[in-house]
This record gives sequence, structure tokens and C-alpha cells, in this order.
Amino acid sequence: MNLYTTFLRPLLFTYDPEWVHHLLIQKLDQTKGKEFQGLKQLIHQQFGYNHLALHQQIWGCHFPNPVGLAAGFDKDGLAWNWWADFGFGFAELGTVTPQAQPGNPPPRLFRLPQDQGVINRMGFNNQGVAHLQQQLTHDLGLEKRKIPIGINLGKGKNTTLDQAWRDYLYGFQGLKNYGDYFVINVSSPNTANLRDLQAQALLKPIFEALQQENLGQKPLLVKISPDLENQAIINILELVTTYDLAGVIATNTTIARPELKSAYAQEIGGLSGRPLTRRATEVIHLIYQQTQGQLPIIGVGGIFTAEDAWEKITAGACLLQIYTGWVYQGPGIVKKILLDLTEKLTALNLSTISQAVGLAHR
Ligand SMILES: Cc1cc2nc3c(=O)[nH]c(=O)nc-3n(C[C@H](O)[C@H](O)[C@H](O)COP(=O)(O)O)c2cc1C
Repeated sequence: MNLYTTFLRPLLFTYDPEWVHHLLIQKLDQTKGKEFQGLKQLIHQQFGYNHLALHQQIWGCHFPNPVGLAAGFDKDGLAWNWWADFGFGFAELGTVTPQAQPGNPPPRLFRLPQDQGVINRMGFNNQGVAHLQQQLTHDLGLEKRKIPIGINLGKGKNTTLDQAWRDYLYGFQGLKNYGDYFVINVSSPNTANLRDLQAQALLKPIFEALQQENLGQKPLLVKISPDLENQAIINILELVTTYDLAGVIATNTTIARPELKSAYAQEIGGLSGRPLTRRATEVIHLIYQQTQGQLPIIGVGGIFTAEDAWEKITAGACLLQIYTGWVYQGPGIVKKILLDLTEKLTALNLSTISQAVGLAHR
């Protein structure tokens, strides 16, 4: 019996979703000190899973497993050193903007339980670059990093599109030494016109400015929307190649509203979870095909089971991320997916997960 889905979820779902989320992050933030090492170990025993077949070396970083925490869950890095204990193979912090900003007025987060989905219009609420820097500096001495940490960069609410590159550059300069990989987020539907930055003319100056600053030191990725036409994705891939980006994250949330059963289905914002599974996987297929499997893809969107994970891996993703699945299935989801993935590898006589990446294309 799954204690989370049977007992805890029904209770948590009676409360406001943003309040529950805030409570969790706040509690994790408060229990970071040395005196909580025992608790961390307990959590790790419960939710962690290690198997050599799941290890990968990508961009010179060691990923102990392919399942990461998606951006937006721990925007300010308040709980960053917990995510390895919850079993994640990596965690992406942010989206962070140059300065702190409050985001959109609440309510701005909605559960769609009949659809296993979430709609959010948070609008990059976060405490800014300097605060994230402090979080990561402050905690560095406390314990070694166990998993790669990605940092997802955004633009401030009031920055115009033609000046957007300055915000991404500011974030990258400020945090360059604190993350293992960096994400240019141009696909959130909750900052007005942000997704227009996915057009080549606006994306180009961003890629150019960051790569000039980077000089090949850190992997830079771009996170794209599932609502782009295939041709627009191909145009982005052209720029990704020109500017030698390290990979693509597919995908962010969707503004599409497929047939949904839940109340709140018509709320404005980005839809995530089960209704996104298929389109996100299609986008991974497209990127893998277009790049002949040469570009690392982080697959995200509606992963709840090992079957969902397997489809994205065989479509071409070498790494995965989860947000909504964690809300619905609870923290046990990571270990369950990893266990089932390992079984799948054994059944197919594959010795490592990297042998499964893009398998559907061979
Ligand atoms: C409440 C919420 C906040 C999010 N915030 C961000 C964000 O700040 N930056 C970002 O790149 N993606 C953000 N996302 C998108 C997720 O990272 C992910 O791409 C998307 O939810 C699809 O994955 P899922 O179906 O597993 O949730 C957010 C998603 C949710 C549900």
C-alpha cells in the first residue's frame, strides 16, 4: 500500500496547493543543519535507490540516476541539499530572475485531480540571483554535493524582450560558479511575451551573450515550449548548433487545453502532468531525429511511471525531470521509477541506461 496516495495525499489535497508547497520547502529549509543528518539518512534509506546501470556521465558531470527534480519546485534553492536524499539524480533550481519579484497575485496554482494535472501561473516568483548565490554559498561548507545542480535562468517581469539577453547574462554571470549546468528558460507561459524569445532573432543575442561569457566552461541548455510548431523547434535547433549549446529541455508547461474533466481546467496558466505526457514525448522524438541523437535532451512533462520514463528515454532523452508526478504520487515515485527502469534494462539485456536512449529510433 502506498502511504502517500492512501493517507497523506487526501489530507494534503484539502489544503491550498501553494500553501502545502510553501510548507514543505520551509520545513526542508529549516532542517538543513548538521543536527538533521540522521533524518536525512532515514529519508535516503526510504527513497534513495542506487544501481550502476543507471549511472551516466554527461557534460563531464556524474549523474547517479536519470530522474531529476524539474525547475519551479525549489526556485530559491532553499532545499537544494535535500533532493539527493529524496532519490533524485539531479535537481534544477530556479527559475531565478536578476532581482527578487513577487510573481502573479494568488490564487495561481490549481490541482486538476481528475486529469492528474496542475495549472500554474506563478509568474517567476523568486528571491533573485544574489539570494540564490547566498543559499548555495552558505550551504557549500556544510556538506558535499551528491548530485549535479542545474540553475534555470529567466528574465524579470519588466525587462523588454530586446533587453532580455541582459537578464540572462546577469543571472549566468552571478551564478556561473554555483551550478553544474544552466538553462535559458524562454518557455514559461506566465511572463508576458516570454515565449516570443523562442524566435531566432531574439534567441540569438541571448545565446551569443551567454556563450561569450561562458567560453565553454559550463553546459548551457535551452528549455522549450510544447506549444511550438515543429518548424519553430527546428529553427531553435539550428541556433543550438550554431552556438554550440549543450542540450535542450523538452518541455515546459502547455497553454493548450485538451479535453479536461477537472474544475479549474479553464484557469489561465501552464498545464502540466498527464495531459502533457504525449506532446512532450513527441517533441523529444523530433529533437532526437533532427540532431541524429547527437544532442543531450532532458525529457520532462507528465512522467508518472517507469513506462512514461521509458517512452521518453527511448524517444531520445538521456535525462528526465518530474514535477507534477511528485505532487500526485509522492516522494516514493523516484525510487519506484528507478527500480522498474532497472528491471526493464535487465529484461532487455541492456547493461546501462544510456544504451536505451533513442532506442525507438533504431
Ligand atoms: C507550479 C509549477 C511551477 C513551475 N515553475 C517553473 C519555473 O519556474 N521554470 C521552469 O522552467 N519551469 C517551471 N515549471 C515547469 C516544470 O519544470 C515542468 O517543465 C513542467 O511542469 C512539466 O513537467 P511535469 O508534467 O512533470 O510537471 C513549473 C511547473 C509547475 C507545476
